[in-house]
Amino acid sequence: MPALIVVLTLLAGALAACGSSDSGLVRLAAPPMGWNSWNAFGCGINQDEVHAAADALVSTGMRDAGYRYVVVDDCWFDPARAADGSLRSNPTTFPDGMAALGRYLHDRGLKFGIYESPSSRTCAQVNGTYTGSTGSAGHVAQDARTFAKWGVDFLKYDWCGPPASTDQMRRVFSAMRTALRDTGRPIVLSINPNSVEANPAMPETIGGAGDWSGAADLVRTGQDVYPLWDNAIADWVYTNGSYTIAGIRDTIERSASIAAHDDYYNDPDMLVIGTSLSTLGFPASASVPSYLPDAQARVQLVMWAMLGAPLMAGNDLTRMSDQTRMLLTSPGVIAVDQDRSAPGGRTGRVGDIEVWSRQLADGDRAVALFNPETRSGTLELDAQAIGIAADCRATDVLTGRSQSRDAPIILAPTSVELYRVRCG
Ligand code: GLA
Repeated sequence: MPALIVVLTLLAGALAACGSSDSGLVRLAAPPMGWNSWNAFGCGINQDEVHAAADALVSTGMRDAGYRYVVVDDCWFDPARAADGSLRSNPTTFPDGMAALGRYLHDRGLKFGIYESPSSRTCAQVNGTYTGSTGSAGHVAQDARTFAKWGVDFLKYDWCGPPASTDQMRRVFSAMRTALRDTGRPIVLSINPNSVEANPAMPETIGGAGDWSGAADLVRTGQDVYPLWDNAIADWVYTNGSYTIAGIRDTIERSASIAAHDDYYNDPDMLVIGTSLSTLGFPASASVPSYLPDAQARVQLVMWAMLGAPLMAGNDLTRMSDQTRMLLTSPGVIAVDQDRSAPGGRTGRVGDIEVWSRQLADGDRAVALFNPETRSGTLELDAQAIGIAADCRATDVLTGRSQSRDAPIILAPTSVELYRVRCG
């Protein structure tokens, strides 16, 4: 192939990887990483807290580790639209307005994300925790233009309405995708097709069930993840009339059977590492630990990386422990998450232990040994158990230590070990 054609072909590939495309999708080169206000601040979010989170992303090294999107979730808006129908920020909590907030973030090398819903009310308005009806219904093109004018780079667009078919939801989400495209500003579209009434007994009402190709850049595949291990307690909340929530283990289990797609990333929901159940309005009567124990926090980050999922931290970054910061910024785990390869998946089980594998772009393989149970398990990294041949070397991604193939690995209850395996 002549050199010029090679150069043009490479250029076209690079543009397709990160530019805006005809479909209106942004075509990200890797799953987005960032911080979202919801898990730590809920509806109480304000401008000072977003500024503080942005500053902390910079000072803790998280921005440089890849966490660049700052997403202001529900409740940022004035509960009433302006006379011309446009959205505006809540004058008390965001007094300087959203364009100024966008500038604050961009000046620090960050990207600006915002939240809306396609129906007449956002999720907090549906749940009664915030007043007004300022969803995008009837204002889709106008809202898209407003977001573009404010310098928004990412829109979380949350169904949060009555159960609907995939086709109905696709039409509604696609209208926003088209409106965003028409603004001419590349804006990542992150949709959540899970209605408040998404029912675990009706899998078709849960986002991961559909094929959303062409509709969005990111697609939520299930209910809100809470800092809980499994959904026994989540089910309790569901049957007691609240909206459905999920834990870490059940989200991983569900994700194991959801297909990966070429033009969007499956989004199993945000990280709950370092977040507390109390800020999520969890019933005080439930006796559960307030934060995820360290081992379970590692499970979430590692398994989200194996799935090639967006990594959206949700903790209060101004009060982050060193341990949480070191976990969230682990270069080896982030490299697996952001790898150009297809997401990994579960390749087998040895006793209680699940073996997950992801073929990485440079020929290495990421292998996660996951113990979902509440008792210890033991495993070796040998050919018989998980197919690692004699000429392979395994490095523990979190500690950097090499792991011999035939030394037993003890997997504590509800824990994971991640190895990068190089052969030959
Ligand atoms: C839904 C979403 C959450 C959050 C809230 C805001 O529950 O799934 O991630 O955006 O709405 O109200």
